Amino acid sequence: MTQLDPQLFCEEPARDERFVVVTRWQECNNLPDGHPEKECEFFHRQLNEEINGLENSARCLTDFPEADWELRMCIARQCADEARHVGMFQDMLEARGGHIGQYPVMNFQYTIINKIDTLIGRLAVQNRSFEAEGIDAIQFGIEEAQAKGQDDIAEFFDAQLADEITHVRYSNEWIRTLVKRDPRGFLQMARALTSSAIAFRQVMGSGGMAVRYGVDPAIRIEAGFDPEEARAAAEHAKASRNLQG
Ligand SMILES: [Fe+2]
Ligand SMILES: [Fe+2]
Repeated sequence: MTQLDPQLFCEEPARDERFVVVTRWQECNNLPDGHPEKECEFFHRQLNEEINGLENSARCLTDFPEADWELRMCIARQCADEARHVGMFQDMLEARGGHIGQYPVMNFQYTIINKIDTLIGRLAVQNRSFEAEGIDAIQFGIEEAQAKGQDDIAEFFDAQLADEITHVRYSNEWIRTLVKRDPRGFLQMARALTSSAIAFRQVMGSGGMAVRYGVDPAIRIEAGFDPEEARAAAEHAKASRNLQG
C-alpha cells in the first residue's frame, strides 16, 4: 500500500464516533458503476468532502487574520455555502435510505491543504485546483442525471455548481491581486501546488487517479480563469483521458 509522507499532511480534523476515517483511496468503498449503493456511497463521500471544504475555509479565516477584509468576507461566504452543501448531501443521502457513517471517509483535502502555510497557497490548491476540478465533476453529474431523467439530482447539482463557480472565481481574482502586490506569491503557490500534487498521488495511488471528466472551457472562464488557462486545462484533461484509453 502507498506510504504517506508525514511531512506533506497535517493532523486529521475531528470527527464524531459515527465516522470511519481512512487515509487512502483504496481503503474506501469504491463500488463499481451500476452497483445499487453507488449513488448512496457517492453522496456520503461528497458530504464529508463538503465538510472538509467548510473546515478548510474556516481555517483560512482563523490562520490568516491579517488578510484583506474583502477576501475574508469571500471566505466567510464560502463557509456558509459549504455548510449548506453538507446539509444538501445529507438530505440526498438520507432520502435514499443512507446514513452518516455508512461508508469510510477520507479527509485528505483537509490534511493536505492545512499543511500549507500561506493563504495564497491554500487558495491555489483548495479553490483553484480541487474545487475547479469539482466543477468539472458536477457538470458531468448534471448531464448524467439529465440523461437518466433524475431531475431532482440535476437541479441539486445545478445549485451547487453556481456556488462552486463563485468559490473558484474569487480565488482566481484574489490570487491575481495578491501576486501583483507581492510577486513572491508565485513561488508560494508553486511550492504549495507541488507538495499537494505529491501528497494527492500518495492518497489516491494508481487506482484513484483516473480522470473521468472533461473540462468545459466556458465554465472555467466563468470561474475566473483566463481563456488560455481554460483551453490548456481542457486539452490536458482530454490528453489524460486518452492516455487512460
Ligand atoms: Fe461545496
Ligand atoms: Fe466550494
